Amino acid sequence: MPKFIINGGKRLSGEIAVSGAKNSALKIIPAAILSPETLTIQNLPLIEDVDRSLELLETLGADIKRNEHQAIISTKNIKTSQLDEKMADKFRGSIMFVGPLLARFGEAKFPHPGGCVIGAGERPIDLFLAGYKAFGAEIDESSGEFYHIKAKELKPANYFFPLVSVTATESMLMTAAIIPGKTILKNCAMEPEIEALAEYLNKQGAKISGAGSPTIIIEGTKDLKAGTFTVIPDRIETGSFAILAAAAQSEITITQCQPEHIMTLLVILEEVGVNFEIGPDWIRVKPNGKIKGRSIKTHEYPGFATDLQSPYVVLMTQAQGTCLIHETIYDRRLIWTDMLSQMGADITMCDPHRVVINGPTKLRGKHLISPDLRAGIALVIAGLIAEGETQIDNIYQIDRGYERLEERLAKIGADIKRVE
Ligand code: EPZ
Repeated sequence: MPKFIINGGKRLSGEIAVSGAKNSALKIIPAAILSPETLTIQNLPLIEDVDRSLELLETLGADIKRNEHQAIISTKNIKTSQLDEKMADKFRGSIMFVGPLLARFGEAKFPHPGGCVIGAGERPIDLFLAGYKAFGAEIDESSGEFYHIKAKELKPANYFFPLVSVTATESMLMTAAIIPGKTILKNCAMEPEIEALAEYLNKQGAKISGAGSPTIIIEGTKDLKAGTFTVIPDRIETGSFAILAAAAQSEITITQCQPEHIMTLLVILEEVGVNFEIGPDWIRVKPNGKIKGRSIKTHEYPGFATDLQSPYVVLMTQAQGTCLIHETIYDRRLIWTDMLSQMGADITMCDPHRVVINGPTKLRGKHLISPDLRAGIALVIAGLIAEGETQIDNIYQIDRGYERLEERLAKIGADIKRVE
């Protein structure tokens, strides 16, 4: 199994470019099902989750031409609306295929999506099932391992999300895009990836207003066109690299990013004493010695992103004083901090949602295992600032969301190697 070997404590410097956003790419790929015309995707990140998503689309009968960061997709000849059980089971992003399949073919069959270990149980999909029902679909779970969703006739929905969910919002947005009539979705998630998806669908003939706000109104159209979609910069990579620069007390310029997508983090980094300059598509972080501890609470966008909580925890182990980290979105996203404690951090888990951190503490290299991709990048950051050697196993989890990470980090002076 491949692993990373890191020798920490190096001063870093230089430029690091941000890849296309995983959580934008994983929605536009299934969106190819909404139209039989050819979709071209630019700035696709070269990551495992994108490979899994394209493979799953291919098993449905799509024709995909891929080179590096571009994919040209035709779903004209899709011949089934049943997701391959083995593939869907190990890939959480498979849930994003269900809405488009239901909307185009009037039915979809799929296993409960697997993938990420975080989140209640195996990541509930109750909001998706309730949303499909709101469009007039029936859910048949009688087979046990498969959900079979079918609708004699799909109609526009009027649906209020009882809980804010990013992928459930995107799922219903895509479904409604090809159902003629007016769908109203309320209490929607407001992530930038949702706005990017809506913008694309509007260019192809849907009439969507309110994306990026809690209420989205969609006038769907049966003959949605297809065109070119450029994946937006990955805001979680951007924030993770900014945190790395601050934690490593190194001057790093992050390029090809959209600073406005991580404003909550930037406001907090400024408050704790991190110096940085911002340009239209770059952030230059400059070291300046001490930083102060500051408590945070994760929140739906535009609040503090749960995906940036893990890297931020590492930064807080290097900050002066005590702070509380409150993870409100997922109930397993702080378990990884015990590995940080083994490296020398002073972290107390108050309950599954809260840890208290006392800093600063010296971190020492350890042999670690990456539990999920965001904890994975946090462990890489910890290894880069720790004394001595850190080995990180299970780096498939990191490759799921970060393109050629070790190559990009080595370019700014990190001593990190991938060992097969
Ligand atoms: C998206 O996951 C992202 N994934 C996550 O990034 C991100 O952490 C999350 O949004 C929150 O920002 C993708 O976009 C592919 P949710 P999603 O539905 O949509 C509960 C990463 O590392 N819930 O907004 O799955 C759920 O358990 C990933 O890139 C239900 O209860 O998250 C969670 O507690 C991790 N029932 C809460 O909602 C449902 O039907 C918010 O989750 C669906 C979700």
